[in-house]
Amino acid sequence: MNVCRHRGHPVATGAGRREALQCPYHGWTYGLDGELRAAPRSREPGFDAEGIALRPVSVDAWGPLVFVNPDLDAPPLASALGRLPELVDLDGLEFRFRDEFDLAANWKVVCENYLECYHCPVAHAGFSRLVDVSPEAYRLDAEGLVLSQFGPERETGAVGSFHFLWPNLTLNLWPGEPNLSIGPVLPVEPGRTARFLDYFFAPGADEAWVAELLELDAEVGREDRALVEAVQEGVATGLLEHGRLLPESERLVARFQELVASATGSSDPP
Ligand code: FES
Ligand SMILES: [Fe+2]
Repeated sequence: MNVCRHRGHPVATGAGRREALQCPYHGWTYGLDGELRAAPRSREPGFDAEGIALRPVSVDAWGPLVFVNPDLDAPPLASALGRLPELVDLDGLEFRFRDEFDLAANWKVVCENYLECYHCPVAHAGFSRLVDVSPEAYRLDAEGLVLSQFGPERETGAVGSFHFLWPNLTLNLWPGEPNLSIGPVLPVEPGRTARFLDYFFAPGADEAWVAELLELDAEVGREDRALVEAVQEGVATGLLEHGRLLPESERLVARFQELVASATGSSDPP
């Protein structure tokens, strides 16, 4: 783990190729195996540098995606991913760019907004022109830690899918040519969330189609930002107590709330 065993400064930042990693605070130097190799003045009597090493973490990969878990006893990645690898084909996709942004809303408000398309006809006119968001056509599905939405493109019937992996990963596959945007919902403060999305397309993708998709994607992003930041203001009044959920159209939100309640110990495991 990238936290110095001395007094906690992050050891490495950025990207590069090094034979050893030196902490910028007091110069403790670690080998790539994580073992402490050298520490200035460490021969002072009473200090024992023996056996000091960066904390190990669990690491596993799904295609080009590397997942890190600080818990060494965590269940294997495959069990968390469930059927995601069946639903999301990573083959033949190539990384294009990363979009980073901040939202003035609690991370759970952001996740809940992601988990329903009840708001789509009202708040996403462009998206709803492209994708059939009616309850007859738009499908919701929850299995294990994977909460999925499937919406057919009105013109072609090609299905787009939008997946959420508990606790905070979103995967978007727009209908049409192979594509993926993927990234976490990161709590920063109670009222602030950081996000990034990595965009992938097939190497020979039709650039006009890509540009059109990115334009609509940005439009949906602006619309969702306005929604979640306004909801944050609403819930921050403290006057809502609790909301109300539609049993069908918002059942993924209900599932998310169960998972939150169980993870925070405020209810039994769902
Ligand atoms: S915190 Fe890393 S060397 Fe002091
Ligand atoms: Fe939305």
